[in-house]
Amino acid sequence: MVSFLIAYASWSGNTEEVAEIVEETLLSEGMDVTVYRIGIGPMPDPWEFDAIIIGSFTWDKGSTPDEVKDFVADVGYKPENVYVFGTGDTQFGGDDLFCGAAVKLARFYGSTYEPLKIEQSPRGTQEKKVIEWSKGVFQHWRHLHALKY
Ligand SMILES: Cc1cc2nc3c(=O)[nH]c(=O)nc-3n(C[C@H](O)[C@H](O)[C@H](O)COP(=O)(O)O)c2cc1C
Repeated sequence: MVSFLIAYASWSGNTEEVAEIVEETLLSEGMDVTVYRIGIGPMPDPWEFDAIIIGSFTWDKGSTPDEVKDFVADVGYKPENVYVFGTGDTQFGGDDLFCGAAVKLARFYGSTYEPLKIEQSPRGTQEKKVIEWSKGVFQHWRHLHALKY
């Protein structure tokens, strides 16, 4: 079974809601999923997972929150299969700064799958977007895996 770690940071709950939908979708696809809220409790060992999904809100003019930077430092290496989602708000600087943390994280890890950007809460019409993205994560992983073996 393919194992995914979802590691996310959330202050006011939006990113947490996205993480829950991603988790539910991957579980419904038969994946093994571990969810870790960054900064809460012991950090799972990233080496134990086939792929890592990082979720972050964006702060302070397109910045990555400190706890997410700490998580990246604690991971200490660049895992091969990293997928990124984020929530943000276009009212804080428009498209240029929207979900800046997710964009930077995806670039840092060389993620070859487009990061998911959600405007505030994923409730309503955006939920479908999260589900489609999550299914795409697994398909992307499986495609890469099939190419290697
Ligand atoms: C002070 C402040 C600065 C923010 N700056 C940005 C930003 O630069 N870009 C962005 O997309 N969203 C920005 N946001 C919006 C948050 O990223 C957004 O509300 C997010 O969904 C919060 O996630 P959470 O509910 O998981 O904590 C900012 C919010 C606050 C309060």
